[in-house]
Amino acid sequence: MGFSLFILIVTIATSVASPIHLLMPHSGSAGLKHADLNCLSWRLAVETDNLKGWSHIPESCVDYVGHYMLGKQYREDCDLVAAEAYEYAKGLNLTGDGKDVWVFDIDETTLSNIPYYARDDVAFGFIPYNSTKFNQWVAEATAPAIPGSLKLYEQLIELGFKVVFLTGSREYLTEPRSRNLKAVGYTQWEKLILKGDNYQGNAVEYKSGKRKELEEAGYRIRGNMGDQWSDLIGTNTGDRTFKVPDPMYYIG
Ligand SMILES: *[C@@H]1O[C@H](CO)[C@@H](O)[C@H](O)[C@H]1NC(C)=O
Ligand SMILES: *[C@@H]1O[C@H](CO)[C@@H](O)[C@H](O)[C@H]1NC(C)=O
Ligand SMILES: [Mg+2]
Repeated sequence: MGFSLFILIVTIATSVASPIHLLMPHSGSAGLKHADLNCLSWRLAVETDNLKGWSHIPESCVDYVGHYMLGKQYREDCDLVAAEAYEYAKGLNLTGDGKDVWVFDIDETTLSNIPYYARDDVAFGFIPYNSTKFNQWVAEATAPAIPGSLKLYEQLIELGFKVVFLTGSREYLTEPRSRNLKAVGYTQWEKLILKGDNYQGNAVEYKSGKRKELEEAGYRIRGNMGDQWSDLIGTNTGDRTFKVPDPMYYIG
């Protein structure tokens, strides 16, 4: 009895699995390895916000994510988002009253922390996030720009948008954040909004509240770009949101 049940389970499992299995390339040098396929699916689930609240990259995907972030795919993915955002922005009719704003998140949206995550003492994917260490890195103000976002920023300024940077960095980091942005080419902004040093709300509450303040001050949020879904959901999200990739961490 136990044995036939085992057979039945195997049979069901096989029949369910086979249609998918047929779509998979046969093993061999040209075929995808099973682990690669899982990691792609994992990344897609992350980017679509089907996977929420994850605390770390699955161990078998740490290598995959590292290669993705350092390779040209990540850069091209960012470039495409920026290009689409520009197409959208070009089509808007600005009133010229200086109230049309574009909201940019900072980390992994306009500035990249890849040099930090690549450090030996950070051990990307293996040691849990350490806010003390991360904020020390932020205070160094040496994060490079994400090229696609910098180009979009320049195009938006040219089109007449006002830019607002809205970051989860704490206010005590205002000076280095400002210095870092300027050093890599984000030379002007309407507002640079940081999180109060003692603010306790979550990311969605914080960002929604700040966007609400902007709208109450008469600004129209025409576009809103971030690497976390918590940058883009909640209230006062703006006319259109743009998600740049980030399979490195999740902020809820
Ligand atoms: C912008 O204004 C032009 C000229 O009035 C009009 O043809 C166009 O449809 C408007 N575009 C949008 C997106 O409203
Ligand atoms: C976080 O980093 C700081 C600074 O490097 C270090 O002193 C501290 O021990 C770390 N905390 C944890 C929990 O690893
Ligand atoms: Mg971010």
